[in-house]
Amino acid sequence: MSILHVVGARPNFMKVAPVMAALARHSGVQQTLVHTGQHYDTNMSDIFFQQLGLPEPDINLEVGSGSHAVQTAQIMLRLEEVLLTQRPGLVLVYGDVNSTVAAALVCAKLLIPVGHVEAGLRSFDRTMPEEINRRLTDQIADLLFTPSEDGNANLAREGIPAEKVHLVGNVMIDTLVQLLPVALARWQDGRFTVQGLTVDPGRYILTTLHRPSNVDDPTMLEQIMAALSDIGQQLPVIFPIHPRTRQRLQNTQYAIRNTQLYLVEPLSYLDFLALQRHAALVITDSGGIQEETTYLGVPCLTVRENTERPVTVTLGTNQLVGRDMGRLRQAANRILNGQVQPHQIPPLWDGRAGERIAETIVSRC
Ligand code: UD1
Repeated sequence: MSILHVVGARPNFMKVAPVMAALARHSGVQQTLVHTGQHYDTNMSDIFFQQLGLPEPDINLEVGSGSHAVQTAQIMLRLEEVLLTQRPGLVLVYGDVNSTVAAALVCAKLLIPVGHVEAGLRSFDRTMPEEINRRLTDQIADLLFTPSEDGNANLAREGIPAEKVHLVGNVMIDTLVQLLPVALARWQDGRFTVQGLTVDPGRYILTTLHRPSNVDDPTMLEQIMAALSDIGQQLPVIFPIHPRTRQRLQNTQYAIRNTQLYLVEPLSYLDFLALQRHAALVITDSGGIQEETTYLGVPCLTVRENTERPVTVTLGTNQLVGRDMGRLRQAANRILNGQVQPHQIPPLWDGRAGERIAETIVSRC
C-alpha cells in the first residue's frame, strides 16, 4: 500500500520519524514524505531531519510564512496537485499545526483516507489556532491515533465512532526513548556546552516561549521577560528563541536585570533533549515539552491557562501557572527549593507507539 506523510513544522518531525521507521519494517508499504515548508530555517527544520534520521522529503511545497489563511490555503493548493498525481492509499497527518488541518481538508475533498497521529487532544480554548486545527482534523480523519485515554473520551464526546479511534501512546516519546542515549553523550566530563555557554547538571533552568498569547502582546512579553530575569538571579536561564519570539522582542522594551538570562538561537533536537534531561526546571508554553519533561521526570511550569495534555499535570511533572507572573515566580521558587510533585510516566508512553500505529494500518489493509 502507498502511504503519504505530510509534515510542516518543527514538532511534526519528531512525530513522523518513528511512524515511518515502523512502517518501513512491514513489507509492501511504499512511503512518500511531503514537507509543506511551513518551517524552513535550517535550525527549525533541516537539523531535525538529520538528527532524527529522516529521509530528505520527496516533495517540498515551500509555502513559507504568512497569515493563517494564506499559509493554510497555499498548502491546500499545492498539496492538491501532489495528491491528484500520486493518489496514495492513505495520508498521515501529525499534531495540530496549520499543515495538519490543511492536508486533512484536501484529502477529505479528494476522498483519500486520512489518519491523524496525536488525535483527541483538547485545550477547550478556541483562541488557540491549534485547537481549531485539532478539532477540524479529528472530524475529517478516518483513522485517529490517540496518545492517552483523555483523547478517546474527547473524541467520544464529539461523536467520533469508536471503531475509528486507536489508543496507541505517544509517538514523540518514541523518538525521545530512542535518542536519549545519543543526546546524553553530548554531556562531556559532566558539563554541557552550547553556543559558548557551559552549564552543570541540575544548575540551570531551560525556557521556551512562542505562543501568540504570550509573545504577541508586548505587555505580556515584557512581564514574562521581567519574571525570567528575576528567576535568573537564582540559576542561569537558557532561553532558545523561536523566530516568532525574536521578532516580537525587537518591538518590546524589556530590560534584563541580571546577566544570567541567556537568549540563544533555537537548539537542535539532541542539544535541547540533553539540556532538558538535567535542567533543574523547565518553563515553557510548548505542548511537546510538557510531555518530554513528564517522561524525563523534570519539573515543568507551563505559562498557559490550560493544556490539551492533562495527563502531564495529573500524572506527570507539569504545573499550569497561567499568565500570572507572580504565580510563575512562586512556583519556580518552590521547585528550586526542592518541593517537587510526585510523578509517573503515563500508560503507553513506552517507545512503541509508532509500532502500534504501523500494525493498525497494515492490519486494516
Ligand atoms: C507553529 C505552530 C505551533 C507550533 C510551532 C512550533 C501553527 C498554527 N502553529 O507556530 O503550533 O507549536 O509551530 O514551532 O501551525 N519563522 C521563521 N522561520 C521558520 C518558521 C517560522 O522565521 O522556519 C517565523 C516567521 O516569521 C513566521 C513566524 O516565525 O511568520 C511564525 O511561524 P508559523 O509557522 O506561522 O507559526 P509558529 O509560531 O512557528
